[in-house]
Amino acid sequence: MTSSYTSATSKNWVIANWKMQPTTQAEVKDLVANLSQKLADNPDNLPNITLAPSFLHLSNVKEALKNSPFQLSAQNLCGQNASHGAFTGEISAKQLTDMGVTSVIIGHSERRQYFAETNEILSQKLECALSQGLSVIFCVGETLEQYESKKTQTVIAEQLMALQTFLTDEYADNIIIAYEPVWAIGTGKVPTVDEVTNVHQFIADTLAKNNPNFAKIPILYGGSVKADNAKDFAQSPVVSGVLVGGASLNADSFWQIIEAFSATN
Ligand code: PGA
Repeated sequence: MTSSYTSATSKNWVIANWKMQPTTQAEVKDLVANLSQKLADNPDNLPNITLAPSFLHLSNVKEALKNSPFQLSAQNLCGQNASHGAFTGEISAKQLTDMGVTSVIIGHSERRQYFAETNEILSQKLECALSQGLSVIFCVGETLEQYESKKTQTVIAEQLMALQTFLTDEYADNIIIAYEPVWAIGTGKVPTVDEVTNVHQFIADTLAKNNPNFAKIPILYGGSVKADNAKDFAQSPVVSGVLVGGASLNADSFWQIIEAFSATN
């Protein structure tokens, strides 16, 4: 962080999950250049901004954004070993911190769905990340079927079980929750702000039962957050920010979302 930028209250987080995008280095370069320009034009009252590019692009993004307040996140990490070893194709928490990455997304519904990541696997990843000093953006959320059968709270309570052994004072500043209803991700459908507020309250209450110090951890909303709905979510006192997929791949729309969570709004 440099002194030429000022941040909003520490309550606000805007995190870009680029997923397996953009496809080319040239597009990444353009996106980051456009974001840098926006940052230069609007340096004040920013929320905490984190970018989660693919592993391949971490290094370029880091280089392009050095001396900026943007933080870097990874989208995944190895749960077998926090440091090193014979795990072909994997990336460790220690390698990530060495690269300047400060956080990692764990429990995203796409990882649960396509890579069969269970609570047990997620707990291993949590252990690796937190033990190396990485912050964790832990995602939870129900499918459409679960939403329609009013099982949202049951599903989320079960997903939060993966976190249970990590709800210690030591990690109280290192865990962020992202509530992402699966049916809202990439679909253009969003729950109402009241629905999101209720779920966030439920998450806060559930965590606080384990450890009162977790009553105030940041809980973000994710799922079809766009420039035109970000302000609505920003109005809820229990929405501490957003995790943005599609709309974070365009500097204009992403910046409008950042502005919705800046201190002046
Ligand atoms: P979306 O993705 O904003 O494209 O819906 C959000 C996410 O998966 O984190």
